[in-house]
Amino acid sequence: MIYVLNGPNLGRLGTREPAVYGSTTHADLERLCLETGEKLGLEVEVRQTDAEHEMIKWLHAAADEGADVVLNPAAWSHYNIAIRDAAAMLRGRLVEVHISNIHTREEFRHHSVISAVATGVIAGLGVDGYRLALEHLARFAA
Ligand code: DQA
Repeated sequence: MIYVLNGPNLGRLGTREPAVYGSTTHADLERLCLETGEKLGLEVEVRQTDAEHEMIKWLHAAADEGADVVLNPAAWSHYNIAIRDAAAMLRGRLVEVHISNIHTREEFRHHSVISAVATGVIAGLGVDGYRLALEHLARFAA
């Protein structure tokens, strides 16, 4: 199983700042990930939460399973050490995805506390970043 985990406010995709995040909804994003998984022969599960404790619980479960994770930590990227500590426990690969290019935006978005524990980072390629992350993980899937 590969978990695609999306953090706070990403459930509002489609209507949330479309000039920054595009018009794709979270339901569209979920469909894109499931279709990509099907093509690649991967079992993919997509989840979104605005609750820190829920994300931490999902990361613990992924760590216990040894599962690979595609994580968009959203605003948590920039300050949340509890999410980073949970991500650091993962035993599978971790691809951090940002829809926007955080490096071209406000200064406070330039640094992600998650990146140091991620296998790799994709930023600025829109929702296509999720597809690319899954294609990457497919190369390493057993
Ligand atoms: C984001 C970038 C973050 O700075 C922001 O807080 C988000 C989304 C992105 O996907 O571009 O919520 O992670």
